[in-house]
Amino acid sequence: MGSLMSRPFYITTAIDYANGSPHLGHAYEKVLSDVIARHQRMSGRKVHFLTGLDEHGQKVQQTALRRGLEPQALVDEIAGVFKGMLADLNISNDDYIRTTETRHKQVVQHFLQKLFDQGLIYKGSKTDWYSTRQEQFLTDKDRSPDGSWPEIYGEVTQTTEENYYFKLTQFQPWLIEHLRTHPDFITPRFRQNQVLEFLKEPMNDLCISRPKSRLTWGIELPFDPAFVTYVWFDALTNYYSAVADQGRWPADVHVIGKDILSPPHAVYWPCMLKALGLEPPRQLLVHGWWTVNSQKASKSAGNAADTLGFVRTHGADAFRYYLCREMVVGQDADFSTQTFENRYKADLGNNLGNLVNRLLNMVGRSYAGAIPAAAADEEPEKNLRALWTESVRKYDAAFTDYQLSHALEALWVFISAMNAYIEARAPWKLAKSADPADRARLDSCLAHVAEGLRLVGTLLLPVMPGTCAMLLTNLGRPVPVAFTGQLTWSAACAGSQVAEKCILFPPIEPSTASPAG
Ligand code: MSP
Repeated sequence: MGSLMSRPFYITTAIDYANGSPHLGHAYEKVLSDVIARHQRMSGRKVHFLTGLDEHGQKVQQTALRRGLEPQALVDEIAGVFKGMLADLNISNDDYIRTTETRHKQVVQHFLQKLFDQGLIYKGSKTDWYSTRQEQFLTDKDRSPDGSWPEIYGEVTQTTEENYYFKLTQFQPWLIEHLRTHPDFITPRFRQNQVLEFLKEPMNDLCISRPKSRLTWGIELPFDPAFVTYVWFDALTNYYSAVADQGRWPADVHVIGKDILSPPHAVYWPCMLKALGLEPPRQLLVHGWWTVNSQKASKSAGNAADTLGFVRTHGADAFRYYLCREMVVGQDADFSTQTFENRYKADLGNNLGNLVNRLLNMVGRSYAGAIPAAAADEEPEKNLRALWTESVRKYDAAFTDYQLSHALEALWVFISAMNAYIEARAPWKLAKSADPADRARLDSCLAHVAEGLRLVGTLLLPVMPGTCAMLLTNLGRPVPVAFTGQLTWSAACAGSQVAEKCILFPPIEPSTASPAG
């Protein structure tokens, strides 16, 4: 781990819609990206981590109208709330882009003008079903099984509308070729196969405008002030507009949920960039969806927003750990009060937290708080060190594929082994023995547990930054900013003065009315 590379690693998240409160889905994506960003930084890469807010579109316009606010005032308020979530979750983003910012609008208009000048945008008209109540066009997919239009659409009529279209179709052969020659473009790979399947059908050109008669809250087309830009064309451009003058393009990885992979990120975005003569992003990392207590994580039910209450009750780090441990990247996962509380108690409190206190206690009592140097070196010590080497190798391999849950699983095998080791060595008994061989064993036992915890605390810094910093400080060790030289077994802890005790994960009564209950 930790070869020093000079090219900065540019990572982004999807930009959240400014039309509601932050919830679990938003939080998870930020945490996943943050752990990757922090891990890359500690591995010696320069990192640029971007997240932000998607502020234009019909929904924002409608909500603002309903609340009697200017759309800008509404999105300013929502931006504050979303930024608050980032602070609560200890997210280390380097920049935050909002699509109402001038730096963004300028790039969107520049992109549009360039495509227009190249003849890649044309004006066309289309007749389709239109719901006046919902102010949106409908397709046959929106019909009820009996062919009628559901109530919510009100009166549905055939409407002809003029709009601008981007010649997306022209780039289909290039896109297919790109996916074939870059098998890791979309990860996990089964998602890439799904996109290739989708591309077997001919695509349509992409409508990139909305007439102002229907929508005003958007970026005006530079070549026709009667129209604003379609939200996806606007939103996708954020990844480039945020770094336009910084020479960072292409992005290394866009972290997104499965619902916005195809067509926006897998089709529109690479084709837009190709048409503009820009490189596609290097990779799309696609995560699955969370359900909450087996229910759809729905905005209206508020269950997905309520899960964020665990950050308040159990701390950001426990929440971060849980999300990374529980979701296998790529698959869906369920957030339940029960599994959250179990992981908090078992993985964090009992397995890790108690081990730390056992160590501090023993070092305090038998060595006046100074960690001893290893003396005896027997089979159990050798095994523990070998297991560390194996665990860090597995952690690293899993992390390379962004499989955080597997990485953490491998690390917890090591933490459990340390618990088994201390149980088997029983230092509390060794401390009572008058035999010098036992004293040497006691030295080694505490030295090994201390060093094992130092290693664990270091490797886990990107996942639980606050807790691990506290752990290392309580072991009397500095908090490293890089992994280099920090992840191999050493005698670094010998002589360090430890704290008397340290509560990393305070016991919390399982609440019957817990946030996700
Ligand atoms: N604004 C668009 C993205 C534009 S990116 C150029 C959007 N916003 S969103 O607020 O609806 O979603 C933001 C991210 O959160 C998406 O990646 C989406 O997949 C993710 N999630 C929203 N709900 C989710 C879950 N229940 N579970 C996991 N992630 C989900 O889409």
